[in-house]
Amino acid sequence: MATTETISDINIRPLQLEDVDVIAAIENSAYFAPWPRAAFTASIGIYPAFVMEKNAQIIGYAIFSAVKDEAHILNLVIKPILQGQGFGKLLLKFVLEILVQNHVKRISLEVAQNNEAAMRLYQSLGFLQEGMRKEYYQTPHGRIDALILVYKPSYTSAH
Ligand SMILES: CC(C)(COP(=O)(O)OP(=O)(O)OC[C@H]1O[C@@H](n2cnc3c(N)ncnc32)[C@H](O)[C@@H]1OP(=O)(O)O)[C@@H](O)C(=O)NCCC(=O)NCCS
Repeated sequence: MATTETISDINIRPLQLEDVDVIAAIENSAYFAPWPRAAFTASIGIYPAFVMEKNAQIIGYAIFSAVKDEAHILNLVIKPILQGQGFGKLLLKFVLEILVQNHVKRISLEVAQNNEAAMRLYQSLGFLQEGMRKEYYQTPHGRIDALILVYKPSYTSAH
């Protein structure tokens, strides 16, 4: 599934082992309960993963699993100071396009029910709610539910 895309000063390329320190720092700045550094190291070579660079600096990443015609988005992050500028949507569209090209028919993910930015992003690209996982995420105020969202290329488009 490895590929790259370059748009102006933005480049998307496969995640490499030497990116892990930068990725882990972004992860720690983006989440209350971040993935540990070891989770990124362990995921390389197992899960398809991409970093987004702006002017050759990593500003975000996406990690997903894909088995036969199903995929699950495991992590999608844009560096906090650059959120809200369209980079998350660009990265997610890139991932969806790769999965669609590889004939994936169902792409799922979990999102915290109070994560307005992520909900807006996923809904704007055609994800629909398919279920809920009770008390799935830890927050500073206790555990909250996750919504299960699903994207099916057959009923929508990534554009
Ligand atoms: C979720 C995330 C990846 C989105 O990336 P982003 O670059 O900030 O989002 P974009 O600028 O591409 O915006 C995508 C959509 O969300 C909307 N949006 C962005 N920030 C928002 C906010 N704070 N509140 C509400 N909507 C927001 C945008 O208006 C846009 O919607 P539109 O296309 O209908 O106009 C990013 O905010 C992030 O890394 N968050 C922390 C990690 C996380 O929660 N990841 C998702 C796990 S499920």
